[in-house]
Amino acid sequence: KSEITIGLLGLGVVGGGVATILHEHQDDLNHKLGVPVKIKKVLVKDATKKRDTYLAQEMFTTDLDELIEDPSIDLIVEVIGGATEAKQAIERALRAGKGVVTANKDVMAESGLELLKLADENKCDLFYEASVGGGIPLIRTLEDGLASDRITALTGIVNGTTNFILTKMKLEKKSYEEALAEATELGFAEADPSADVDGIDAARKMAILASLAFSTDVHLDNVFVRGMDVIQEGDLELAEQFGYTVKMAGSAKKDEDGIEISVEPVFIRNAHPLASVNNEFNAVYVYGDAVGETMFYGPGAGSLPTATSVTGDIIAACRNLLLGVNGRRVHAPQHSCKAKSDDQ
Ligand code: HSE
Repeated sequence: KSEITIGLLGLGVVGGGVATILHEHQDDLNHKLGVPVKIKKVLVKDATKKRDTYLAQEMFTTDLDELIEDPSIDLIVEVIGGATEAKQAIERALRAGKGVVTANKDVMAESGLELLKLADENKCDLFYEASVGGGIPLIRTLEDGLASDRITALTGIVNGTTNFILTKMKLEKKSYEEALAEATELGFAEADPSADVDGIDAARKMAILASLAFSTDVHLDNVFVRGMDVIQEGDLELAEQFGYTVKMAGSAKKDEDGIEISVEPVFIRNAHPLASVNNEFNAVYVYGDAVGETMFYGPGAGSLPTATSVTGDIIAACRNLLLGVNGRRVHAPQHSCKAKSDDQ
């Protein structure tokens, strides 16, 4: 192959970042892969809209077929978000024999195993590093770096928007509404920010991490979720008075009784490193039998950090394509997930 060609689905906060990195870092990418990587077509809602981008107007289309049926497109990069339309596009791409890179936590939390099997059947790659922890390479760490260990627990902050809101409320005494508006303005919040503040976005991410860490297949229904609305007026001040900080935290544990996963606001001692994870940053502790305790920290949301993970996946998929080794075996889950209970 003399070049790798991409069909990009979506040019929003993340898609725009992907286009920027592919353009601005093209010499480094060329050097690392030995061939250029180029966006050929971009699926958008309005192909006639004028955009401030280096991408030529004729690259834009509203017709997914133009990307799926183009034999010169090697990889589909899905960054439209949402559930149904994105899932169908991923399925169509895989069935057409194209590798897929996605940042979609909704789809991967709900249908990850099913899609990974479809990718396996079609000998295609399906990478999803950007679905959890924005710019923190967590998925690959669990899949590869810590693959030999027996993970017993994961805890941490996996939603940038709620962490940003809680930080602004604590340190700058901003109101919830002001802080949420700012998070939306900065491109951290979901299109419907109730997914962030209700804890659903974090629950999806914990489901993805727990599925990988514990070789199981966790769905949203398996995660006990309490949203930010349970935080009462005065809770943040009360926490401060006693040397604690309120954080939206995720937890996933595996013991002989099974696997338990939750997302909820918690009081964290100020001396604990998670208490000083501020703004849109995320941090995840992984506990393993052999590794002990290891922590991953970085930007959890935002255009370029999230796009860095997407582009990292693009490089991985390109390497496999160039070597002709794309696709991985998917194994049936090894453990089952305990039903959630309200008494956690
Ligand atoms: N809305 C998400 C967050 C975006 O705030 O964490 C990154 O997944």
